[in-house]
Amino acid sequence: MEKQKRSSFSGKLGFVLAAAGSAVGLGNIWRFPYLAAEYGGGIFLLTYLVLAVTFGFTLLIAEIGIGRKTGLSVAGAFTKLNRKFKFLGYFEALVPIIILPYYCVIGGWVTKYMVTFLTGQGVTAASDGFFGAFVGNASEPLLWFSIYLGITAIVVLLGVEKGIEKVSKVMMPVLIALSIFIAVYAMMQPGAIEGVKYYLLPDFTKFSHKTVLAAMGQLFYSMSLAMGIMITYGSYMKKDVNIESSVRQIEIFDTGIAILAGLMIIPAVFIFSGPEGIGAGPSLMFVTLPKVFESMFAGEIIGGLFFVLVLFAALTSSISLMETIVSIFMDLFKTSRTKTCVAVLILSVILGIPSSLGNGPWAHITIFGMAFLDFFDFISNSVMMPVAALITCIFIGYVVKPKTIIEEVETNGAFKSKNLFIVTIKYIAPICIILILLTSILSVLGYMNL
Ligand code: TRP
Repeated sequence: MEKQKRSSFSGKLGFVLAAAGSAVGLGNIWRFPYLAAEYGGGIFLLTYLVLAVTFGFTLLIAEIGIGRKTGLSVAGAFTKLNRKFKFLGYFEALVPIIILPYYCVIGGWVTKYMVTFLTGQGVTAASDGFFGAFVGNASEPLLWFSIYLGITAIVVLLGVEKGIEKVSKVMMPVLIALSIFIAVYAMMQPGAIEGVKYYLLPDFTKFSHKTVLAAMGQLFYSMSLAMGIMITYGSYMKKDVNIESSVRQIEIFDTGIAILAGLMIIPAVFIFSGPEGIGAGPSLMFVTLPKVFESMFAGEIIGGLFFVLVLFAALTSSISLMETIVSIFMDLFKTSRTKTCVAVLILSVILGIPSSLGNGPWAHITIFGMAFLDFFDFISNSVMMPVAALITCIFIGYVVKPKTIIEEVETNGAFKSKNLFIVTIKYIAPICIILILLTSILSVLGYMNL
């Protein structure tokens, strides 16, 4: 009896840690803080939290449920439940292909900062214009992008993910502890209180459909939703592990780290750049944190350690992204693992180059007014993922019916938030996603002045 209990516990912990390892990455540490800063601070945080406990919870349950029920990854899973929905599997599989290249561009920036701090040049990194000069240059960011992508590809090629995951399980708690320390330090500096207020107190006048779209895209991105990845994780989940409580834990983990990253960065923006600094976008973390480290005792070492930890969190995510693409292509084209890895690597280099150059020499080339990196980010998080999530809701809510998932969740214990799940998947989520998508399309086309 005793033994059985322990093994099912470790099964659950193993599952939660693996899923959280994929979920926690640059999305939490790099992307969440700059979006929160840009979209009104507290109001973004509040919107995000509301969406996390409704949309995030429901979709995570649905995806993990689909995976565990069918025992298959994305393409096969939808086909098994209903042949007509095969296309959704392929559509979702496109998302990681778009995300991986630009994820590696940002991963390259992290690598560059890590090396800068570890070689004792942290003070230079804190100087004004350092980041701009770095990304403005053509070859340097490309070099770091190639190094980062190369590491990711080697791990996938050699199949040594397990080793990296083990290291990362040790590093994750250290990352959390260090982030708490940095956040507390930043919040204790003079001038930080304005930033803390901005981040934690919602200002409802700043609320618009854009807040919801940004928060929704971030939610999907951060929890690795609407791209089939959680279906794959679900397919590896043991039948005796409780889906509902695992999902709660993954959510708390992922959201907790995002909130913490905001506390580490946003008050510091108010100290070092003033309120004007909040619109910095993707550069926010790279511009702000070196200044925090510079003002700290032993900041160079702490900064170096911080970027090492972030690099590992990012690597577990990019490895999982690449692994997903490789296995989809292997199924599709029946090619060997090595050949497929090389093909995915080449594709990622081709797609990653414009994202890297778009911050510098190619800054004048824009698509719908966006640089390449922002465009790839927008098309995946704000268009494709909401569409995939919408189709998933219709599929579960009306085609195979919520009971398909509910039965799977109830295989071990009661489904406590069953009603929330049904109402969200059938009504709230689809209606909200349709409204948000329509409003965005109309405002992009210029029909509405929002
Ligand atoms: N959730 C990851 C992060 O926050 C990024 C990500 C998106 C991801 N989709 C994924 C990671 C698929 C692994 C697999 O950084």
